[in-house]
Amino acid sequence: MATIKSTSYSIHIGEKSFDALNIFLSKNTYSNYYIICDENTFEFCLPTLLFHSPLLNEAEIIELESGEDKKTLETCLQVWGALTDTGADKKSLIINLGGGVISDLGGFVASTFKRGIDCINIPTTLLSMVDASVGGKTGVDFEGIKNHIGTTSEPKGVFVNPVFLETLSERQIKNGYAEIIKIALIADAEFWKELKKIKSVKEFSSEKIIAKAITLKNTIVKKDLHENDLRKSLNFGHNIGHALESALISQQKDILHGEAIAAGMIMESDIAQSLKRISVKEQKEITDYISSIYKNIKITKEIETQLLKYILHDKKNIGDDLCFALPKVIGAYELYCGVKIELIKKAISNY
Ligand SMILES: NC(=O)c1ccc[n+]([C@@H]2O[C@H](COP(=O)([O-])OP(=O)(O)OC[C@H]3O[C@@H](n4cnc5c(N)ncnc54)[C@H](O)[C@@H]3O)[C@@H](O)[C@H]2O)c1
Repeated sequence: MATIKSTSYSIHIGEKSFDALNIFLSKNTYSNYYIICDENTFEFCLPTLLFHSPLLNEAEIIELESGEDKKTLETCLQVWGALTDTGADKKSLIINLGGGVISDLGGFVASTFKRGIDCINIPTTLLSMVDASVGGKTGVDFEGIKNHIGTTSEPKGVFVNPVFLETLSERQIKNGYAEIIKIALIADAEFWKELKKIKSVKEFSSEKIIAKAITLKNTIVKKDLHENDLRKSLNFGHNIGHALESALISQQKDILHGEAIAAGMIMESDIAQSLKRISVKEQKEITDYISSIYKNIKITKEIETQLLKYILHDKKNIGDDLCFALPKVIGAYELYCGVKIELIKKAISNY
């Protein structure tokens, strides 16, 4: 088992992370446990968790409906209500058992309930293992804008057990792999070379790949928790990717976060090349590898209009300037403020 130290908590990765969880639970005295899950993690992950961590058999289970469209304040009201009705107090522990929707929402609920109670993350999707469960960003979507309401609040521990991925679909594995590609492109050229050799979906979620991706993200987050500077690098692919995701969701299209981010990385690599950050060869290398894994997304005129509207709303912009985190070479990033909307339109059209 690998254990990675973050600012104030540890991330345990591997089969033995259940042991680490049991030690964590017995060392801390919580008044009661609340496990937040959705119907899928209730069915596929909760029995395994309870089997390995019998201390949790007394936990209250809060089961939510799955889906990004449920990552809302209305669902928070439901959870805050359930906590209140069952007598949760300052010493209660929230356990987020699920993908990024559960850890984002559960983390937000925990950080606001009675001005903040402890929570831990037990991620069950590849995306939440390598990205959402680490770094303390919590929140919900609001008026169609992704993660518009939220807090920065770190969990007390993260327990990553790849055993949970056995019931995850191939599409969901690819969804998480997009964030692994992203971290390699901005932070580690050697890791990128390693990834490029991987062709089968089975290898996307090996423990070694997961641990490497988490280590890279954690190194960045530790230096800049509140995203003043360095952490902005993690937004590569996300300016356009997030906006595309929001635009497609608003049109009731079936899109996953990682699929939108994969398209976003292709378009933002186009911008990086136009700005002479990366070379034509590097841009092609990025585009070819991502396109070999993810299907092209059809961007209609209507979607493009929505997408541009969302980009202008993005939290990452400062004033009228559009700020992008772009690779300057593969494996290193540069924050670039001042991307013109025309350049974005050109990247969309090239895509
Ligand atoms: N906080 C952050 O830093 C951060 C970073 C990246 C993404 N995110 C957020 O994460 C969310 C996406 O996360 P996600 O892709 O994990 O989505 P998700 O939580 O919706 O999970 C995807 C689907 O898989 C199901 N599922 C989960 N675990 C399963 C398992 N082991 N077996 C079978 N089915 C399982 C879920 O029920 C759901 O239907 C987005 O809301 C995104 O904004 C947050």
